[in-house]
Amino acid sequence: MEQNKLIDGKALSKKIKAEIAQEVDQMKAKGFRAPHLAAVLIGSNPASMSYVRSKVKSCEEVGFTSSLIEKEKEITESELLTLVEELNNDERIDGFIVQLPLPSHIDEMKVTMAIDPSKDVDGFHPVNLGKMSLGLDSFVPATPYGIVQMLDRYGVETSGKHCVIIGRSNIVGTPMSILMSRKTKIGNCTVTLTHSRTKNIAEEVRRADIVIAAIGFPNFVNGDMIKDGAVVIDVGINRVEDESSKRGYRLVGDVDFESCLPKCSLITPVPGGVGPMTVCSLMLNTLKARKFS
Ligand code: GUN
Repeated sequence: MEQNKLIDGKALSKKIKAEIAQEVDQMKAKGFRAPHLAAVLIGSNPASMSYVRSKVKSCEEVGFTSSLIEKEKEITESELLTLVEELNNDERIDGFIVQLPLPSHIDEMKVTMAIDPSKDVDGFHPVNLGKMSLGLDSFVPATPYGIVQMLDRYGVETSGKHCVIIGRSNIVGTPMSILMSRKTKIGNCTVTLTHSRTKNIAEEVRRADIVIAAIGFPNFVNGDMIKDGAVVIDVGINRVEDESSKRGYRLVGDVDFESCLPKCSLITPVPGGVGPMTVCSLMLNTLKARKFS
């Protein structure tokens, strides 16, 4: 019974990746080149390395080609901007990402703005975010895009519902708030975007039909904050120390799964929820970039 409440991001991403692979096969059979994604990784942040590795692996799984460009954390901003320009001009590359966060001496916004919007498969460039806000065709940031697909494929009715988002990051909370309020199939919600200055987050979350937690704080949302029957989406991937684990840490979401499970109607686990869907959305954006290149 409780098992039916699980939104299985791992299984869904596998299914969508199989659909992408089939389309790539057809593309190649017609004599077209496979999509190519480039990923730029600066320094050796363990989480970033792990994310980029999984992006490159997914490219292989769906039949894309990919390039991993690794640079020392001492790279200057101007060197990185030159690299971005090279990638913008490289016709063999359909889309590319610069993995964030960047070292503190580099202005992330400056780098993001230097990316050609037609190759910005992360959907972080103001042109893509602006188009998305107006409901125009654009690259939608991977995490919000993945969440929309999960809600869609699990048949969640969003119209007229109250969606409470926790966290206003440029990557997740802010774009998610826009998508859920738009006049679209997965949308038409009344949206509350909560953040560090919100007076009483728990009270806001208690009113939610759909909760999207993206604050990067382990187990922040607990069962006492969940209205009966709410849908709970956990975007958090927090590493907490765990000596009993071989790696020395374990992954914990922003949601306390155990206490929320009895109250909610649907919930995403961590790991195996939003994470795999994010990578799969990046593949969809890269396929789109190839089609329009
Ligand atoms: N860092 C955390 N999430 C992301 C993402 O989706 N794209 C990039 N480029 N960096 C990230």
